[in-house]
Amino acid sequence: MGITGRCSMENTATPADNILIVQNVEKIFNQGKRNEVYVLKGINFQMRLGDFFALMGPSGSGKSTLLNIVGGLLKSTTGSVSIKDTILNDLDDDSLTEMRSKHIGWIFQSFGLIDNLTALENVIIPLNLAGVYEEEAENRAKELLRIVGLEDRADHFPDGLSGGQQQRVAIARALANDPFILFADEPTGNLDTQTGLEIIELFKDLAKMGKAILMVTHDVSLAHASDQVFILRDGVVEKELEEITAL
Ligand SMILES: Nc1ncnc2c1ncn2[C@@H]1O[C@H](COP(=O)(O)OP(=O)(O)OP(=O)(O)O)[C@@H](O)[C@H]1O
Ligand SMILES: [Mg+2]
Repeated sequence: MGITGRCSMENTATPADNILIVQNVEKIFNQGKRNEVYVLKGINFQMRLGDFFALMGPSGSGKSTLLNIVGGLLKSTTGSVSIKDTILNDLDDDSLTEMRSKHIGWIFQSFGLIDNLTALENVIIPLNLAGVYEEEAENRAKELLRIVGLEDRADHFPDGLSGGQQQRVAIARALANDPFILFADEPTGNLDTQTGLEIIELFKDLAKMGKAILMVTHDVSLAHASDQVFILRDGVVEKELEEITAL
């Protein structure tokens, strides 16, 4: 195991630079009950636009829990998360839903495409939900499919696409409303190594285009393609400073 250093708020970035600020986040499931699980014990980190970070850690260490909290899908027990100067903890359900649809994109291991819709139609759905329709939605969806390298597969249904291509459609869909930040929970978990690497290259390109990307992965080589690897262990996040081994 390589050397790690506790990640603290002594980051040189000023708050204004940060698109995501996570402060003292704790999560206790079933608090006060016999089946209580103290998963997160004070998490602090920040991200700026253009950052591509990887989050690793043993199974059950709380990676998905942390991602769900910072992405506004789950409430923390204590602590705060802010995205683009808005503290998620202060938002009511409607405002949180709006924040998620406007500023956050999600990518999951299982792609989550709708089977009876084409690639193009899958990307159009979040645009329609955000009030963008017809030609404008179609043009935007085509442009997103071009960005992920799938312009020639727009009319294919998911079962006519490879796993890597399906994940590219899911990424185009996540980009539909031009979010600041993308959260990806084991996005390459269902892909072979080479296809996984191609998805990571796409993430690197998106980071260069100014997106912030936080990706959970179990794959050390994929994690090392990111700008910074964080390791979640025993409820705290450590910033990896030197070589790590598989988790
Ligand atoms: N809704 C819940 N209620 C109770 N405990 C939960 C709940 N969700 C997660 N946990 C517990 O929190 C811990 C962390 O789970 P989490 O899914 O975040 O781990 P993970 O690091 O993503 O694991 P994996 O690598 O296997 O995906 C686990 O011990 C899990 O059992
Ligand atoms: Mg998980």
